[in-house]
Amino acid sequence: MAEIQNRRTFLTVAGVAVASVVTPRLFARPDNPPNPPPTQGVRENVDGMDADHPVLKLYRKAIQAMQKLQPNDPLSWQFQANMHGSMGDGANEGWDWCMHMNWWFLPWHRGYVYYFEKIVRKMSENDSFRLPYWAWEKAGQNGLPGTFRDAKYGGQDNPLFEAKRADAANKGQPLPAGSVAGSFSVDWEEHALPTERFSTNRAAMSYGGLRVAKTMALKKPGSSGQFGMMESLAHNRIHMEVGGGNGYMMDPRTAARDPIFWFHHANVDRLWNRWLDVKGHQLPDPTADKDWYDQEFPFYDENGKQVVVSVSKILELASKESRYDDERHFVAAAAPAAGGKAVEPKVVGVGSVLPMLKLGPKSFSMPLQLTGNGQQLKTALANPAEYAEPPAVLLEVEGIKPPQDAPLVYEVFVTKKRRQAI
Ligand code: C2O
Repeated sequence: MAEIQNRRTFLTVAGVAVASVVTPRLFARPDNPPNPPPTQGVRENVDGMDADHPVLKLYRKAIQAMQKLQPNDPLSWQFQANMHGSMGDGANEGWDWCMHMNWWFLPWHRGYVYYFEKIVRKMSENDSFRLPYWAWEKAGQNGLPGTFRDAKYGGQDNPLFEAKRADAANKGQPLPAGSVAGSFSVDWEEHALPTERFSTNRAAMSYGGLRVAKTMALKKPGSSGQFGMMESLAHNRIHMEVGGGNGYMMDPRTAARDPIFWFHHANVDRLWNRWLDVKGHQLPDPTADKDWYDQEFPFYDENGKQVVVSVSKILELASKESRYDDERHFVAAAAPAAGGKAVEPKVVGVGSVLPMLKLGPKSFSMPLQLTGNGQQLKTALANPAEYAEPPAVLLEVEGIKPPQDAPLVYEVFVTKKRRQAI
């Protein structure tokens, strides 16, 4: 997928507090870093998880607990499904919010999955739960995951099973994609993934859907009447193939009642990140498309309290709390400076390491030769408290070319002398 050859990536270091982005994941952390950061969990592929996998056990436990609650309780299974769409079974301002056919399809579903996941953690009484994803675009994974097909689990009704599905889905047959190319992987790789822009004025050229007007909370934005590329192909087909003629997944008003819905949308969410891995693919423009970022939506947190959050906020919260196991971008937030204020990294000295560093399968350390204002940096590292804005080191890492889809993670640590490591 992502071709990373020759892409210039960088990492800045401000004192020992750091911020940056890289491809593949390269990040600097303070001395004695928590690993992984305590609040960030990993969403994994459901393929290969057997029925007794701990994550699936937690999911079953949460579903059972949620199904016992009344439909007007935001933590109930029914309420959560109704937030997506309802059968008009009782009006509630928090219901029927699914964003389809507009440029908020992806961020709305990201927020929806984010808060749902928090609720599952609460209801399963386990903070480690992260939603697995169903990678239907991968070879051999285009059938409903096995553990969702068994009517029984441990001698009792399996909460992951849903009778209101297409027979073929519950029989585990490879789902036929009656889509443009006849395969979910072709839909993804040849149609959705290469779509260059997030939003344009043509649906077929918009990965994330067409622009519609921003609204003031709590009024729902409208529909453009057309699906963006991610939504129209495999996403919609999965709903139809799993739902069949009249199953839950088939209809937005019932789709989220099926436990597979959430794994499906975790995958749609993950693929958004994989789309962003491609050089040139970007989110809407922060200035020209400010409305996209500012739009607010209501969700319910794990205490059942309504929260109204903007798209910017959703993006920030979701990326802090979870990442996918095949993530190539890693965005670490700038750690607050000693006084509690975030440090604006400022480059004062750039050193070059020669000979060129070559990243390989083995870890290694390399002292950085500081040039330019190196002395200033050394002083700052020695006495961080004296600097409101510690000087920064800029590391450029170039020419990384991992094998396709390799589960690679490069970690770069910049530390003071004696613990030098790169
Ligand atoms: Cu809002 Cu896949 O549905």
